[in-house]
Amino acid sequence: MADRVTINEVGPRDGLQSQSRMLSVSQRLQLVRALAAAGISRIEAGSFVSPKAVPAMADTDKLLQSLDRRGTASYSFLIPNMKGYELARNAGAESVTMVIYASEIMARKNARMGMADAERAAWKIIDLARADGIEVIVIVAVAFGCPFEGVVNPGTVHDIATRFVAAGIHRLVLADTIGAAHPAQVSALLTPLARHHGPGAFGCHFHDTRAMALANVYAALTAGVRWFDSSIGGLGGCPFAPGASGNVATEDVVVMLRQMGLETGIDAAGLLAASDLATKLTGTAPGGRVREWLRGQLTKSESRKL
Ligand code: COA
Ligand code: ZN
Repeated sequence: MADRVTINEVGPRDGLQSQSRMLSVSQRLQLVRALAAAGISRIEAGSFVSPKAVPAMADTDKLLQSLDRRGTASYSFLIPNMKGYELARNAGAESVTMVIYASEIMARKNARMGMADAERAAWKIIDLARADGIEVIVIVAVAFGCPFEGVVNPGTVHDIATRFVAAGIHRLVLADTIGAAHPAQVSALLTPLARHHGPGAFGCHFHDTRAMALANVYAALTAGVRWFDSSIGGLGGCPFAPGASGNVATEDVVVMLRQMGLETGIDAAGLLAASDLATKLTGTAPGGRVREWLRGQLTKSESRKL
């Protein structure tokens, strides 16, 4: 295995978008800053979506403009459509994450357009972004299972990969939006994709609804994937996907990778501080099984690089 893995921290977006407690922009900013201070190099800091649909993500432009972008972290912003792209670009985003779908009903529920229209919007955005000098990450929602259509046909995801990876997009992230995937399924999907297109093109995004997210990370790692979305404290969930629970916790992924000898560049004390802050701000800590163990380790020794 290559020895470096990128953690794309999605707590400030996926983690906060359906919390019952709504955070202010300055609280969201505080969380993003704590995550960056822990050495996390990629952070999905918010989304440019309708504030009526997702009030927790309102004023992401203000958050973006307050970020210190001279540091080592880079920030991406989730967008569902062209309007989201324009808002992100106008606010000064350097990277956007456009959502496409492996199921027709999920596309309509989340973006009020069909799968093909979402893809068409993604292509237009990719073209514009090339000219604007903005990175585009494409995330495939419900790539493993859909709350409305059930198990997703792997052929659908293979076809999407063939279209997007062949066109040289920066990264295609396969999302288990509702946490329905199991490790054998992850392996069966990712192994041929990685063999055919190269593992560097892919990332994975797992939710922990059925307690298999960490096992799914391992399965994807074994297939060669080296980019994982995860959320501080295991916060997370999509308001438009019934049954979706928290993402795999960043703490758990980072500690597992470290024990396996894979480098993330994340500082343990900083991670714990961000984790405690996430709990303090949201009033909930649905995940992060390893946190108390980590706290115990840190009282024994000074900050360690994980
Ligand atoms: N950012 C901000 N506002 C947006 C927007 C975006 N990306 N896309 C649409 N809107 C606004 C429209 O301007 C309109 O505002 P108005 O009511 O003040 O006029 C309103 O949303 C509804 O627009 P409409 O044209 O009816 O809907 P739409 O088909 O363009 O798109 C969605 C609506 C689904 C894209 C929008 O509801 C949305 O952003 N949903 C959130 C999706 C999400 O974040 N899911 C979880 C993460 S995957
Ligand atoms: Zn998610």
